[in-house]
Amino acid sequence: MTRVTFISADGEQVSTVDAEPGQRLLEVAQADNQPLEGTCEGQMACSTCHVIVAAEDFERLPAASEEEEDLLDLAAHATRTSRLACQILLTEELERLDVRIPPGATNWMGR
Ligand code: FES
Repeated sequence: MTRVTFISADGEQVSTVDAEPGQRLLEVAQADNQPLEGTCEGQMACSTCHVIVAAEDFERLPAASEEEEDLLDLAAHATRTSRLACQILLTEELERLDVRIPPGATNWMGR
């Protein structure tokens, strides 16, 4: 089980959910109604699943692939700890993960 905490871009809304190993962060975020569009559904053809991972958690994730790094270059408000949520697989070892939603992110409902 991974305890995932989503923090809104302005830091005012915090949501914590328990996710099962094997789930992708994008599906956990969408199930929690977080504003991540994920247009290409993990096909590495967009960057609308961009999240900013807390520095201490970022270090514990497997490194991003070159393809992911390239897509992150296109993401608005990318930081040193940015990742694509569709590429983060939650594992038993990953006990917690804090992520911030970038400014201006929207989901299919436009929020
Ligand atoms: S959903 Fe498109 S790259 Fe993640």
